[in-house]
Amino acid sequence: MEAVQDREPSAPPPQHIAIIMDGNGRWARSRGLPRAAGHERGAKSVRTAVQACTDLGVQYLTLYAFSSENWSRPRSEVDDLMGLLRVYLKREVADLDGRNVRVRFIGQREGLADDIIKLIVKAEERTHSNSGLVLVIALNYGSHAEIVQAAQRLAIRAVDGDIQPSDITEELFAAELETAEIPNPDLLIRTSGEQRLSNFLLWQSAYTELIFTDVFWPDFSRKSLEEAIAEYHQRERRFGATRG
Ligand code: IPE
Ligand code: IPE
Ligand code: MG
Repeated sequence: MEAVQDREPSAPPPQHIAIIMDGNGRWARSRGLPRAAGHERGAKSVRTAVQACTDLGVQYLTLYAFSSENWSRPRSEVDDLMGLLRVYLKREVADLDGRNVRVRFIGQREGLADDIIKLIVKAEERTHSNSGLVLVIALNYGSHAEIVQAAQRLAIRAVDGDIQPSDITEELFAAELETAEIPNPDLLIRTSGEQRLSNFLLWQSAYTELIFTDVFWPDFSRKSLEEAIAEYHQRERRFGATRG
């Protein structure tokens, strides 16, 4: 780590880091613990990542907390995950607010418990004018649903005569996504050794640098994050152009 820092002393951090926080269940199993224990430890890693991103001057951190496909897990596990989210939102929002973090949620509200929706709205409202790290929590999120919803909204506008089909550009389309005001991620990290996107930010990550690490999410530390950022700095982003 030090060696890389020495090489790149002043490289700015990625503006937007997105993380697929995976491996809680395997972390727990490897210790003979129930899966819920892994999710609980995973919440600790969330705190660590948020603090590290704040310290490093990252502007946006998007965390995949629950996918639209995660409803197909056993009911008891879904309940555990939602329970942890409740605890996290009740306990942490004041602290996040104190640290000038703005909290935002992406994903469908429909399907979430009413009290969770209230906590989400409260967290967003309370931290709305904060100017520090923007923490985007992807909850009941799936890219396909998000893209279909954007297409539906544009179709309605076209039927209403508000736009012509030929007005639909990449910019107009992106403006209908839930991430409209959020820049595309520069770096996407997935923990636990899996190498897939699992329906996360598919449109937005067209030119994102992907880093897959074997570390299970509960073990993901500040050092893990710094190592991923160092690897990111070694990459050459070309966006389809030639070098230089
Ligand atoms: C990530 O860990 C947490 C969520 C998907 C909500 P997993 O629960 O997927 O853990 P593994 O992949 O089974 O180890
Ligand atoms: C992706 O992890 C979703 C989250 C981390 C919230 P999964 O564990 O659900 O993904 P798959 O099923 O292995 O693709
Ligand atoms: Mg998993």
